Amino acid sequence: MEKKITIAVDGFASCGKSTLAKGIAKALDYAYIDTGAMYRAVTLYCIENEVNIKDDASIQNALDAIDIRFKTIDGKNTTFLNDKNVEEDIRKMPVNNLVSEVAAISLVRRAMVRQQQEMGKEKGVILDGRDIGTVVFPDAELKLFMTANINVRTQRRLLELQAKGQTVSLEEIAKNLQHRDHIDSTRADSPLKQADDAIVIDNSNLSESEQLAMCLALSKLRMREEAS
Ligand code: CDP
Repeated sequence: MEKKITIAVDGFASCGKSTLAKGIAKALDYAYIDTGAMYRAVTLYCIENEVNIKDDASIQNALDAIDIRFKTIDGKNTTFLNDKNVEEDIRKMPVNNLVSEVAAISLVRRAMVRQQQEMGKEKGVILDGRDIGTVVFPDAELKLFMTANINVRTQRRLLELQAKGQTVSLEEIAKNLQHRDHIDSTRADSPLKQADDAIVIDNSNLSESEQLAMCLALSKLRMREEAS
């Protein structure tokens, strides 16, 4: 017997969290919630509407005007901001360069966390982000904390962006990942940190399929333990 659980995946930028989470969601027929996409969508809105992110009233107005949804299109998880497909735009450099500043704002976090808790309230869900195991779902039955060598992470992100036709240098990517990790780990509100009961996975030397097999085995173990 197996029981449905909540799986939290946290970790540094470009560690393969979403690849893993999508793989597990598909294999277990679980819902997947990409919480990073939500902070990215808020950031895109702020850029497009020239919102002064230092001013709480402006941020609150922006949050009141923002509707974020996920839809599956051609089998892919796709982010919509106010009914517009923004999946491509939220992964570009202007958003990469500002998202950690926006995600550090408590008003933004409060609104996103509330929505994430609502979307993920049914078991049988996997979420990836920075504060899932510590703040969003501290009672998640399985918590994975992912990390990888910075050179490996930079190389992976370069290939990802190149595949989408974006020209970005290795240096620019490395700088952005380190900048985001620093802000994400040191912010006052819900900093990125490993939950005490998380299992750490360094995937620097693991292939995608090895990582998936390992984490699926961990998931099934927890699902059986919960059923017994
Ligand atoms: O895919 P990548 O690791 O580059 O980033 P992401 O998961 O899409 O998250 C983008 C940014 O959103 C992070 O650098 C954090 O600043 C923020 N974030 C957060 O603060 N809390 C989360 N639960 C998820 C993302």
